[in-house]
Amino acid sequence: MRSAIVTGASRGLGKAFAIGLARDGFALSLAARDANALEETAREARAAGAPQVIITATDLSRPEAAGEVVQATLDQLGRIDALINNAGATKRGDFLALTDEDFLEGFALKYHTTVRFCRAAWEALAVSKGVIVNISGVGAHTPEPDFTIGGSVNSALINFTKAISKRAQGSGIRINTLCPGHIVTDRLARRIETRAAERGISFAAAQEEMRLEHGIATYGQPDEVTNVLRFLCSPAASYVHGTVINVDGGATPGL
Ligand SMILES: NC(=O)c1ccc[n+]([C@@H]2O[C@H](COP(=O)([O-])OP(=O)(O)OC[C@H]3O[C@@H](n4cnc5c(N)ncnc54)[C@H](OP(=O)(O)O)[C@@H]3O)[C@@H](O)[C@H]2O)c1
Repeated sequence: MRSAIVTGASRGLGKAFAIGLARDGFALSLAARDANALEETAREARAAGAPQVIITATDLSRPEAAGEVVQATLDQLGRIDALINNAGATKRGDFLALTDEDFLEGFALKYHTTVRFCRAAWEALAVSKGVIVNISGVGAHTPEPDFTIGGSVNSALINFTKAISKRAQGSGIRINTLCPGHIVTDRLARRIETRAAERGISFAAAQEEMRLEHGIATYGQPDEVTNVLRFLCSPAASYVHGTVINVDGGATPGL
């Protein structure tokens, strides 16, 4: 039985990843803060085929959290074959209005927690010849003035992921970065709501305005990112290592 840790699995992309990996027969260790929402993901994952699901409801930005989740996974599922570092919540806004605390919080969850999970799960992943997928975002490649925290965190994650993919050579661990574009989740909805409020326009008008700005035909669905995640976690991706894959409907204008 293969097992996967998915962080930020209570909703959005993390929930879709959990259900997708369940369809591929992974047992799951799911982590986020909202226990009820995690229970719901667990229920849907079992229905989708996960042989066993455990949850840890905790603030993953705590320094001890990654070690605790890895230990609980090893105690209850016995092994780790995939680690999906997805939890992330960085504040948007005008750079001049963002505080040190905003930057520190953004890095604490998405960057430092990912580093700690990779370290804590490394030995188990070497035993299983497992996979790490770090979820970054297209803001890593295309800086935007209202996304200075998220963009910086995402760029840093790509650098870190590339570096540890070199460290992994010979260990059997495969490590990649996946950059979603503009995907329909609560997070995107909040962003569109903010824009609508700022400009005094409707949600639909703000959504359309943003779509045109990003040069995409449609917003992405969580399942469209999950399809690529499932590929990266499968033997079909055996030679895909140390790379960055954008799933963005063509949004990224550069190389
Ligand atoms: N959606 C997009 O368009 C998009 C684009 C580029 C990159 N991404 C990246 O994809 C990832 C998922 O995004 P999403 O859109 O699915 O976001 P989302 O809907 O806001 O979900 C974020 C997840 O992270 C968890 N989380 C937040 N703070 C946490 C904390 N302190 N401790 C533990 N868990 C925490 C949330 O669970 P709880 O609230 O229950 O703790 C939730 O499960 C993020 O890393 C994001 O940067 C998303």
